[in-house]
Amino acid sequence: MKKLLSIISVAVMAVGLTATLSFANGSGAGIVNSPHDLSTEAWNFRGEICRVCHVPHDHGRNTGDVGLLWNHGLSSATYLMYAEDTHTNFIDGAADPEPTGISKLCLGCHDGTVAIDDFDNNIGLGTTMISDYNAGYQVPGIADVGTDKNLSNTHPISVFYDNQSDPGLNPPTHVMGTLAGGQTYTIDDVLDGGKVQCSSCHDVHDEEAVPGTHLLRVPNNIATGVASGLCLTCHNK
Ligand code: HEC
Ligand code: HEC
Ligand code: HEC
Ligand code: HEC
Repeated sequence: MKKLLSIISVAVMAVGLTATLSFANGSGAGIVNSPHDLSTEAWNFRGEICRVCHVPHDHGRNTGDVGLLWNHGLSSATYLMYAEDTHTNFIDGAADPEPTGISKLCLGCHDGTVAIDDFDNNIGLGTTMISDYNAGYQVPGIADVGTDKNLSNTHPISVFYDNQSDPGLNPPTHVMGTLAGGQTYTIDDVLDGGKVQCSSCHDVHDEEAVPGTHLLRVPNNIATGVASGLCLTCHNK
């Protein structure tokens, strides 16, 4: 009986371990050990966290002048945007014809055309793709094989947060959440030059993210907080 129990508990542990590996999720405790802490990867010859994405001096490596001391390859894909599909009439805020700003940085790993280890001295030479981690983390999904990568079924990105034109949006001064230090932050704080980007909903560094979510800034279901709380932060539905 004792043996049986220990077999069961090993099995339970094994299941737990698999679940943790395939479904990392956020801890809200910062980037260390978060999904974006890639410092212990075999390919990470620098053994640093930040360097996969940021570098203090560019040493002449050309990743394009995208700001934020960016040290990672960028995608050269073109995209079918939400506003370019049949949805044009519904969008009130001005939308860029291609992803811009911070979304462009995220897509440089997540769109599945640029390797994760395409960074620093390895720019152009990487081989480990997002699908090697989790096929479900590719945006747009792995089923999308067209020339224009199809973002038309993804929440609008690179779109101005224009609550004058769309009265269904809360004012940008609306409080979104509270930082670890106790200060509140607003919708405006998560916009990128006034635009909604991937980072408006996700915290790549996992310090403001809600534990147990896909690095979401605001809980979005009953298990983590308020049902559709993230959506209701911006949309006054
Ligand atoms: C250097 C490449 C890289 C960049 C840049 C990057 N990511 Fe990721 N991201 C990854 C990898 C790799 C994983 C999977 C990690 C794992 O499963 O262990 C991941 C996982 C995620 C996840 C799922 C986390 C989870 O476990 O639920 C989200 C959400 C995410 N990234 C969002 C973003 C957003 C938003 C940006 C831009 C603000 C971004 N990422 C930029 C490489 C990157
Ligand atoms: C997977 C890629 C990735 C890694 C790793 C990463 N960052 Fe970032 N970082 C980003 C992206 C994307 C942005 C822009 C989005 C944002 O501000 O949330 C950003 C923005 C920033 C900013 C400016 C905005 C702000 O939040 O203050 C700072 C500072 C920063 N990162 C520091 C760091 C440091 C320090 C580390 C390592 C401890 C690190 N980052 C690791 C992707 C990354
Ligand atoms: C309007 C908010 C919002 C924006 C903008 C947004 N996401 Fe998400 N994202 C979510 C939510 C909510 C989930 C959780 C979905 C779920 O649990 O089914 C999610 C899930 C994810 C996941 C985990 C896998 C999955 O599909 O469930 C990844 C990776 C991701 N987003 C990356 C991105 C990237 C990259 C961008 C920019 C191109 C982006 N997100 C823009 C809200 C957003
Ligand atoms: C950071 C603010 C923000 C968050 C969070 C957010 N949205 Fe949005 N959403 C916008 C903006 C801005 C637009 C573009 C509105 C416009 O210009 O008409 C938009 C557009 C949309 C549209 C398209 C409307 C149309 O007229 O075509 C839908 C649907 C939508 N959001 C649903 C959601 C859902 C569901 C969530 C939660 C997963 C969510 N949004 C989270 C800001 C946000």
